[in-house]
Amino acid sequence: MNSNFLNQLSQIENPEEGLRFLSENTEGKIVFSTSFGIEDQVISHGVFGQKLKNIEAFTLDTGRLFPETYAVWDKTLLQYNQPIRVYYPDTDELETYVNKNGINGFYNSVELRKECCHIRKVIPLQKAVKGAKVWITGLRAQQSDNRNNLEIIQWDEQYQLYKYNPLLHWSTDDVVHYLKRNGVPYNTLHDQNFISIGCAPCTRAVKKGEDFRAGRWWWEDQSKKECGLHQ
Ligand code: ADX
Ligand code: SF4
Repeated sequence: MNSNFLNQLSQIENPEEGLRFLSENTEGKIVFSTSFGIEDQVISHGVFGQKLKNIEAFTLDTGRLFPETYAVWDKTLLQYNQPIRVYYPDTDELETYVNKNGINGFYNSVELRKECCHIRKVIPLQKAVKGAKVWITGLRAQQSDNRNNLEIIQWDEQYQLYKYNPLLHWSTDDVVHYLKRNGVPYNTLHDQNFISIGCAPCTRAVKKGEDFRAGRWWWEDQSKKECGLHQ
């Protein structure tokens, strides 16, 4: 990708426009990961609403998602009638892990929690992004200190591709208003004070004044709270 293209893309503030520009000017595989959170729903609307067929949407079904997440997944398929590819964990690895550590073994240590995330999310992600030139995500700077250092489009050394974060500078209000204005389905857990939503046993609602990711792996030390999808 030449620097002129990257520069132009990073200047486009409107995500719909950015997604279209990316789709029309990229040769090679473009993937978009969705966990059906509010940010991903904005991107889904941009990709599916504009019928950007060369962007391959995918989700990682860990097997431990909330029923509300499965419901919004289903609604999204019905509303847009466009494919969202699903990736599952490897059965043998998961069986070995659960047989050894129990069904909720991730509560017992950070190592066991990270191992569960690795099996249920990171390995499937590696399959999903294999061969891709660009990976689109719903990351926002406001979500955490780590994410504050990201750029709209940036080279990812780990996966050897460009990561495109079109909502990087959006606020939560921007996201919520966009969904309302465009009639986009969303996870109803957001109406019950859930902000960042991952697996059911590892996500809780947040209390007033808590930060965005306080509800994720809430029993752990703040500094350890990433699952390995994003460094
Ligand atoms: S996580 O690393 O803590 O789990 P987070 O929930 O904030 O990530 O989501 C950030 C971005 O990661 C989402 O916008 C989405 O692109 C991707 N993502 C997270 N979880 C999944 C999932 N289960 N399936 C697909 N993409 C996901
Ligand atoms: Fe396992 Fe929890 Fe990570 Fe989901 S978030 S993969 S259940 S440790």
